[in-house]
Amino acid sequence: METEQLPIKVLFVCLGNICRSPTAHGVFFARVDAAELIDQVVVDSAGTAAYHLGKAPDHRTQAEAAARGYDLSGLRARQVTMADFSEFDYVLAMDNQNLQDLRAMWVANDRQGPEPQLFLRYGTDPEVRDVPDPYYGGPAGFAQVLDLCEQGTSGLLAHIQRRLKASDGAGQT
Ligand code: 4NP
Repeated sequence: METEQLPIKVLFVCLGNICRSPTAHGVFFARVDAAELIDQVVVDSAGTAAYHLGKAPDHRTQAEAAARGYDLSGLRARQVTMADFSEFDYVLAMDNQNLQDLRAMWVANDRQGPEPQLFLRYGTDPEVRDVPDPYYGGPAGFAQVLDLCEQGTSGLLAHIQRRLKASDGAGQT
């Protein structure tokens, strides 16, 4: 097996980069930190749209995250770029519309870099593919975003830990 190129870089992408992808970013980073893998895994997030560039996550997102022990206050919104496909190993879309938008960029870029995937392919319920956009809804939507991000990041971390372990084993003689 090929030795792993470290660090493994993960980018979460939603529409505005102020609700769903910063939540996944903060939750996954906390899990990576707890697993003592911050030297081996880089985490970032971005939006397909430029509506909220430079802004901190939505106050409702920050409040729901803080209630569960995640501090998202240092994150700032940015837009996804073609260069992200050269930089990251995983480009993970929060919903199917984000996936279509990312796929169009990837195809326009001659399919260079990782093919975008749905984040919730790493989730616990194969029927649930999208993290629904909570922006125009009530508080339950923000709690659901946290629930789904916690579920998806557990599966994603387990997947990455398997990759790291396989590559570690491959390095031994
Ligand atoms: P996000 O949520 O994509 O999860 O960051 C949204 C944020 C802002 C808007 C839509 C969705 N907006 O229309 O401004």
